[in-house]
Amino acid sequence: MTEKLKPAARVSGRRQDVWSIINEAAAASPKQPIVNMGQGFFGYNPPDFILNAAKEALNRVECNQYSPTKGRPRLKKAISEAYAPFWGRKLDPDTEITITTGANEGMLSAFMAFIEPGDEVIVFEPFFDQYISNIEMPGGKIVYVPMHPPKEGNVKTLSAAEWTIDFDELERAITPRTKMLVLNTPHNPVGKVFSRDELQKIADLCLKHQIIILSDEVYDRLYYVPFTRIATLSPEVEQITLTVGSAGKNFYATGWRVGWLMGPPHLIQYVSAAHTRICYSSVSPLQEACAIGFEQAPAHNFWEESIASMRHKMNLFNAVWDELGIPYSEPEGGYFVMVNLSAVQIPDSYPFPPHVAERPRDFKLAWFLIQELGVAAIPPSEFYTDTNAHIVEDYLRFAVCKPDEVLEDAKERLRGLKPFLKKD
Ligand SMILES: Cc1ncc(COP(=O)(O)O)c(C=O)c1O
Repeated sequence: MTEKLKPAARVSGRRQDVWSIINEAAAASPKQPIVNMGQGFFGYNPPDFILNAAKEALNRVECNQYSPTKGRPRLKKAISEAYAPFWGRKLDPDTEITITTGANEGMLSAFMAFIEPGDEVIVFEPFFDQYISNIEMPGGKIVYVPMHPPKEGNVKTLSAAEWTIDFDELERAITPRTKMLVLNTPHNPVGKVFSRDELQKIADLCLKHQIIILSDEVYDRLYYVPFTRIATLSPEVEQITLTVGSAGKNFYATGWRVGWLMGPPHLIQYVSAAHTRICYSSVSPLQEACAIGFEQAPAHNFWEESIASMRHKMNLFNAVWDELGIPYSEPEGGYFVMVNLSAVQIPDSYPFPPHVAERPRDFKLAWFLIQELGVAAIPPSEFYTDTNAHIVEDYLRFAVCKPDEVLEDAKERLRGLKPFLKKD
């Protein structure tokens, strides 16, 4: 290939990503069909009132055409009303909410809007992998701050709350070039819901140093302990915070690609401006369906049922770890569980392909489970820098947003781990 036909560095030269490693391994496993608890997509449909809203929207001429770049007025109004109980007031649909093509493109728009080359963005490890390329595209420099798992996480099941930030470490990561900090609560993959006290400490640092907080709250309707939104701590914190939401996560429809950012007009207007340049506007009929989803959710008791159903799935699935004596981090929110498999002994001579052999132990554990049991999970060291990957080398992340029968099947297969468990 000649020099001129070469791709840009931002997309070339990256090692194979975790999703393709796991999906290819799953496709090649002798244990077919595989139970895929890897990626966080739902194994079931949104409820009928939401699906029907989407079908009906497709019959309407104006729903098949461009939406306003900042989003359909009906959806922005519905979001303003749905979030009013948390904010204590209705956000202005015109100036404080902007609709994006999923949370991911919303966050890309936020970085595009505020990051100049060389600006620094603080990201906690483990991170949602898309943050990294989204920050790098406008030339941002990522400064990583690790979350620390509980010391006894390899022997005891403890709350995901026990994954902690060292606030001195966080303060040391701040420099005059720190422009933004990315927070994720409820957290993927840890399942932690940041406490009010932790959020206050983060907010105080960001206020002191005038850092924009990008609070990724895509799992905001799935919490099993009290959930505080950082933007609601005080009017001062609200002024520096962009809050991110996702219809994909809220309505069990990750393929719909509808998301939103909420925040003060002086931040939101620039996110909208970047979004207009990136994709002009977002998918119209599904914005309409999401508006109806928000409008009708209370009458269907949808939010309460979402929590109850996911909690049930979490308990149903995690019972197998209790049974096997394998510890995990008890999630406080979201639909992922981090399981500590330090007790699993992989036979010394076990054959791994080179692209797995060179990665940390969690990749080998994931490969082993796929090959031996036909269960796919995600190795979380992918969500850490190489320096800190060792922190989670004994963990795997399982997504429980699957039908109960699939979870039962996974449990039955995972009982096959017994002969490989260390005896003490
Ligand atoms: C923490 C986190 N943020 C953002 C997203 C992306 O959300 P969306 O599908 O709306 O782009 C995900 C999806 O997995 C996620 O886990």
